[in-house]
Amino acid sequence: MNSAKAICVKKTERLQGRIEIQGSKNNVLPIMAATLLSSGVSVINNCPLIEDVFIMCRLLTCLHVKIDRFGHTLVIDTTEAAYEPLPYSLTCRLRASILLLGPMLVRWQKAEIGMPGGCAIGTRPIDIHLEGFMRMNVDVNLDEEILTCQSYYLQGCEYHLRFPSVGATENMILAAVGAKGRTILRGAAREPEIIELCNYLISMGALIEGIGTDVLIIKGTGELTSGDYENVYDRIVAGTYLLMAAAIPCDINLTGIDDTGYMKNIIQVAGTLGVQTEWSGGTLYVKSSGTVRAGNYKTGIYPAFPTDLQPILLTVLLKAEGNSTLTETIFENRFHIVKELEQLNASITVNKQTAYIRGHSRLEGHPVASTDLRQGAALVIAGMLSNGCTLVTNIGYIQRGYEDMVRDLQGVGTDICYI
Ligand code: EPZ
Repeated sequence: MNSAKAICVKKTERLQGRIEIQGSKNNVLPIMAATLLSSGVSVINNCPLIEDVFIMCRLLTCLHVKIDRFGHTLVIDTTEAAYEPLPYSLTCRLRASILLLGPMLVRWQKAEIGMPGGCAIGTRPIDIHLEGFMRMNVDVNLDEEILTCQSYYLQGCEYHLRFPSVGATENMILAAVGAKGRTILRGAAREPEIIELCNYLISMGALIEGIGTDVLIIKGTGELTSGDYENVYDRIVAGTYLLMAAAIPCDINLTGIDDTGYMKNIIQVAGTLGVQTEWSGGTLYVKSSGTVRAGNYKTGIYPAFPTDLQPILLTVLLKAEGNSTLTETIFENRFHIVKELEQLNASITVNKQTAYIRGHSRLEGHPVASTDLRQGAALVIAGMLSNGCTLVTNIGYIQRGYEDMVRDLQGVGTDICYI
């Protein structure tokens, strides 16, 4: 991990070159948790070298799991895994720590785990997770920041999620595969991360039907067998660079994209902005004149446009040939970027969950501060669209999810460096 504290980025007139897209953060984290459901060695390839993965490794190590890393490959040995409480000092560092709850209940029928952290984009409650576990015969007690759960046996149940929470769906699946009887999850999330997790669990011996739909039927089985996994590319990182391309004349190749199925929604929005794309043999070829079409956009649950790319789209629309709107429907407080973009001379008004974005912006470089992962990435892109030099601070947020934005953007001709 780079120990720099800030990124300095200059206006970029043209993009040309190649970016290798890293493995998916939001995909690999639940799969790392799933390895606890078996006793043996699992090999996970194409794992991104990011802070969230390193913290997840530390949490698994607290449970006496042995982990070796060879480049982008994790070798996870759960043979000697043993119960321990998980400290809030680590669990608060990422949202995905909560995904250890399901596997711990399956393996040890109990869990004492600090509350999760995650980007400050809303209150981020876990009520849907806990309500589901209580339906599975789990006693739940929350005392300040420590969650204590106990269940002599996990009972399969029928549970209708009040909102298709990605994390709650993943947690319930991770518990249901080890519960007695059948679990039916209605109103389940359908994100690609759910599909990949279900397919991985099936490779370990789990019995799951309805994959890709919002009704999942999971039949509890005995202990699963360890399985290897080839992590998919990160659709949000690929989408970050694809949307960036709309605002700068470019001819770039995004490689490591073995299938565009998971990012059709993102490619469609990039097309409406004015980006031409063609996919062939693992590479997405991206061309753009840098002229951004204005429009009215909204985030939503998969397969709608993902909330994680909302700050990046908002930034790109500053350069549109007219005014645009962008409505956030997933998180209640995800417009932090507006205050920082105003430092760059942007003109944006927010009313409830909609941002009104003035186009044709003449952005001027200025120091700006990251406050969360995707907002930080969007500020780097804003710097590429601003005259002069922009200093983006608190880049630890960015490094939670992007392996090396400076390396990636230098690869397509941006004048950018760590300081
Ligand atoms: C996952 O977070 C992702 N994180 C997020 O990506 C992503 O933005 C989000 O899904 C939505 O796609 C990981 O996978 C590690 P949710 P998660 O539960 O599971 C509310 C990034 O940048 N909710 O689907 O926490 C919640 O407050 C991160 O990589 C409850 O009310 O998201 C939010 O408004 C940011 N109660 C909505 O549901 C609950 O128990 C969606 O949250 C759970 C969620």
